[in-house]
Amino acid sequence: MSHLVSHDPRFTPRLILRPFRRKDTSAVHDAVRASLPELAEFLPWAVNYQRSVTAQFVKDSIGAWASGRAFDFAIRSIDSEDRHLGNVSVWFTSRANSVGEVGYWIRSDATGQGIGTEATACALQIAFEELHMHRVTTRIALGNVPSERIVQKLGFLKEGTLRDEVKVGSHWLDHSVWGLLDREWRYERRRYATELWVKP
Ligand SMILES: CC(C)(COP(=O)(O)OP(=O)(O)OC[C@H]1O[C@@H](n2cnc3c(N)ncnc32)[C@H](O)[C@@H]1OP(=O)(O)O)[C@@H](O)C(=O)NCCC(=O)NCCS
Repeated sequence: MSHLVSHDPRFTPRLILRPFRRKDTSAVHDAVRASLPELAEFLPWAVNYQRSVTAQFVKDSIGAWASGRAFDFAIRSIDSEDRHLGNVSVWFTSRANSVGEVGYWIRSDATGQGIGTEATACALQIAFEELHMHRVTTRIALGNVPSERIVQKLGFLKEGTLRDEVKVGSHWLDHSVWGLLDREWRYERRRYATELWVKP
């Protein structure tokens, strides 16, 4: 299944997206540690975080890619490739229906610069053009305004609310679900290039 998506790095105007390698653990751990308050508000794995969480993630990511289950990308700047900026992932939720999901996080001292939008635009290009997905969704905790803004900018439509969808620490969080279809992608892709989120 690993032939589904090439291991080659992808380039956006400012970023490199590439698969994880074992030796990434330290750089990812540093980025997580520097972002814990923001990550732990919405992402269960960041609550009571320890370095072993990242070590396991990197190991699982390499295995998931090899088996075609999920495709996680390390986000790096073209200008400073050693500094881990965050993660963006794409995976199938229904292979029979060609439906998938995207997820992302950006280190806190690099937010507000459009990196989340640019990296997610690239992940959508992979979802629609390499994995040939028909529909891509994402789930966002109610109140996560920057994340909602990313998917609004990318042209997703809000489809509804999932009650108590994810437990973060001791709290259940409602999530909105957002979707983008392949016929919408064809139009949006041109706009993404104009916005300089993907290469023309
Ligand atoms: C959500 C997250 C990925 C955003 O990353 P980012 O690189 O800052 O995203 P971008 O800069 O591309 O876009 C963020 C948008 O939110 C806006 N924004 C940020 N904080 C805001 C706020 N409090 N109110 C309104 N808008 C806000 C920004 O202005 C920007 O919109 P704009 O381009 O129209 O100005 C990052 O904050 C993060 O990783 N958070 C913690 C983990 C997380 O929530 N992951 C997503 C789970 S669904």
